[in-house]
Formats: sequence, C-alpha cells, structure tokens
Amino acid sequence: MDYRFLFEKALETSKNAWCVYSDFPVGAALLLDDDSIIVGVNVENRSYGATNCAERTAIFTAISQGKRNFKALAIATPKSDYPVPPCGICRQVISEFTSENFPIIYGNSWESHIETTILNLYPQDSLHELAK
Ligand code: THU
Repeated sequence: MDYRFLFEKALETSKNAWCVYSDFPVGAALLLDDDSIIVGVNVENRSYGATNCAERTAIFTAISQGKRNFKALAIATPKSDYPVPPCGICRQVISEFTSENFPIIYGNSWESHIETTILNLYPQDSLHELAK
C-alpha cells in the first residue's frame, strides 16, 4: 500500500510539536480501521523526563477515544538527516495494540522513508498473555 498520504499527515503535524529543548520536531499519524487518522506530536517538558514522544501521543489519544484497531503508523522527523525509527518505549507501546505485520513508515522525507513492521523493530516481544 502507498502510505504517502499518511506520511504527509505526520509531516504536517510535526509543525505542532512542542520541542523547545531539543529543537527536534516529530509528527505521528495513526491510520485507524475506519480509515480515519489520529495524529500526535512530541511534547517536551523542562523536566526532560516528562517528555512524551509523538507516537505515544497519537496512540494514547486513539485509546482515549475508544479506538483500538490500527492499520498503520507513520512517523516524520523533518529535522533529521536520516529516517529515525520509534524509540524503545514507543516500540513497546505500539506492540501492545498491534500484531506482527503492523506497518510502520518513518522518514525525514517521503523520498528517504523506510517501511517496516513492528515485528522487525521489536522481535521476541513478550507477555501478551497478561492482557485480561
Ligand atoms: N522523539 C519522538 O517523538 N519520537 C521518536 O521516535 C524519537 C524521539 C522525540 C522525543 C524528544 O522530544 C525529541 O524527539 C528528541 O529526542
């Protein structure tokens, strides 16, 4: 599938990032099973550890709206000079709500984007049986 539309949404959304400490804007766009899109940005804090990544902002927003079925996630990092994949915490959170072949598209621009899966980014995931 061509996820350009989803990546462009992430890129546009990155303009809303609150990243006054890193000057590293990130935008995320989550495609839902009804083909609607929920976006997220990184939200930094002067207490640095309180920062939330763009990917988790999008997923937490979706969950808060009662939406749990996701088709794909695009991540745009326009100020990097290479495609930046999700951090470890975000990989764990993505894995909570997706299955192995879930597509993740990331890049600093569409021209240099990478498309992969959560399985590739987060192999040997564990403890799904804990969900009740
Ligand atoms: N960041 C994200 O939002 N997503 C990623 O996948 C990588 C890192 C944010 C966190 C912080 O605000 C800034 O990028 C620099 O690490």
